[in-house]
Amino acid sequence: MLILNKTAGVFFKPSRRKIYAFLGSFHFHPGKLFLHKLVLGIETSCDDTAAAVVDEAGNVLGEAVHSQTEVHLKTGGIIPPVAQQLHRENIQRIVQEALSASEVSPSELSAVATTIKPGLALSLGVGLSFSLQLVDQFKKPFIPIHHMEAHALTIRLTNKVEFPFLVLLISGGHCLLALVRGVSDFLLLGKSLDIAPGDMLDKVARRLSLIKHPECSTMSGGKAIEHLAKQGNRLHFDFQPPMQRAKNCDFSFSGLQHVIDKMIMQKEKEEGIEQGQVLSSAADIAAAVQHTVACHIAKRTHRALLFCKQRGFLHQSNAVLVVSGGVASNLYIRKALEIVTNATQCTLLCPPPRLCTDNGVMIAWNGVERLRAGLGILHNTEGIRYEPKCPLGVDISKEVGEAAIKVPRLKMKI
Ligand code: KG4
Ligand code: ZN
Repeated sequence: MLILNKTAGVFFKPSRRKIYAFLGSFHFHPGKLFLHKLVLGIETSCDDTAAAVVDEAGNVLGEAVHSQTEVHLKTGGIIPPVAQQLHRENIQRIVQEALSASEVSPSELSAVATTIKPGLALSLGVGLSFSLQLVDQFKKPFIPIHHMEAHALTIRLTNKVEFPFLVLLISGGHCLLALVRGVSDFLLLGKSLDIAPGDMLDKVARRLSLIKHPECSTMSGGKAIEHLAKQGNRLHFDFQPPMQRAKNCDFSFSGLQHVIDKMIMQKEKEEGIEQGQVLSSAADIAAAVQHTVACHIAKRTHRALLFCKQRGFLHQSNAVLVVSGGVASNLYIRKALEIVTNATQCTLLCPPPRLCTDNGVMIAWNGVERLRAGLGILHNTEGIRYEPKCPLGVDISKEVGEAAIKVPRLKMKI
């Protein structure tokens, strides 16, 4: 049963004429036989409109995505009504492209799985409204998907990973550490108390005006920082990793961001340049920021691994750490995590970059996992709402803090 959330909102309704035109645009494939069940996944929780068809065996039959990054880069961040409008303009085409690429018609689907939580209300509403009309028209089961659960389980599509495993999700909107015990069985060990690391890197990149840097103008903030950091010397700046005294697995990035902001202001004065111009020390700042963020993430993850091992939550000999989200594509941060997994005899796994960021495949795959486990498959969608805020699993972060595990110092030579 779905728990309704107070913040849940009203659906957006595309016109009937549009829907009929959409449905009429499909070519049906009589006589074609699919050996496996097929799930269509739809994702609109933030700024990507994405859809994919995945079969029961994990084969991706087709996918399509429309990224809004370029528009949001220009405005310096996501403006929800703009994101909503872009989802509205693209969802029909994206779903159609995913189905056409798969050579699957809606009638051949076993279910439709759609992100309904957490995310931007206006964005979630577009995907949900569209999906409800689709399942109603074709009399298909509906599988509501939790965006973070989908990120966490993606690795089981690409690698043979059994439960339980530890997952670290780091992106522009997410920052959490969770133990994954089953398809819908999660223990939350820690999360960011303020902003996510990707958000912080985006803010620092904006403050450094990296969009004006000839090599970085089309890159996301995080990618620009990684790129410039390679040319810089991190030792020219000394930023302290946050929360060093708190022996838990929570994260914090906004304090560090303010320290960096102050440092940038001071450098601008020293170099005699206006805000909006690129500092000559931008690469050094990028290198120091990246290193500090990597150390902070590595330390919290190290503690989570030790906590899980101490409690017998993970296999003693074959513990797995999965890292996903846009920030997981940062090779410097991955190396820092590799130092941690090597020190704790764990295996580090990351989905391929295209599956680390928001995508339709992870939603369809979560639908497949739920279909196979017989969990959360709705034949009646009455009263279903999207939920902009929704925690992941059972929060045991307080217990983790009470265990106060001291993490051995590791040499972060990256
Ligand atoms: O997962 P994602 O596409 O979207 C969500 O935030 O949900 O992640 C985007 C975030 C942005 O903040 C971006 O700056 C960051 O991931 N990012 C990176 C890198 N590539 C993207 N951060 C650090 N290093 C990168 N190479
Ligand atoms: Zn995401």
